[in-house]
Amino acid sequence: MDQIKSKTGNLSQSRREFVERAGMTAVMSAFGLAFFTSCSDSEDQTPGTPPNPTPPPTSSNGVTVSGNNIRIDLASQAGLAAAGGWLLIINAQTLVVNVGGSYFAMTSVCTHSACDRNWTFTNSKFTCTCHGSEFDTSGNVLKGPATLALKSYATALSGTTLSVTK
Ligand code: FES
Repeated sequence: MDQIKSKTGNLSQSRREFVERAGMTAVMSAFGLAFFTSCSDSEDQTPGTPPNPTPPPTSSNGVTVSGNNIRIDLASQAGLAAAGGWLLIINAQTLVVNVGGSYFAMTSVCTHSACDRNWTFTNSKFTCTCHGSEFDTSGNVLKGPATLALKSYATALSGTTLSVTK
């Protein structure tokens, strides 16, 4: 009888344990599913897939940047359209200048210490105000501390659209 009681007691205890474990498993499964779904929704990437290396095209004030190509609508950029006008396109790290109706473009990354947005243009020369280097409208060094020219980019004018290819 003791054996039976004992067995009954064990059976009863086993049933209770089973129910408790089943309940915990169900709860953990629910959390696990929610966690997995949450990770899947927020990351939205296949593991090991690198982020998109090409930023999307940007467009502002008649200037559209798409990869290594820049398109400038001169009708929207009256300053650049006038002889002696110039433009710094920060998101493309590019300087563009109008020299008597001819357009020249070059990197805005200074060859001295890589400042890319502290530029002025007066008396037909660009000055990087980080440390005072000066460059002509083709990017050649006029005054240091920079010793290397700014890299030039090709330009093409079609109607009122100026294209720059980096
Ligand atoms: S970074 Fe342009 S002069 Fe130093």
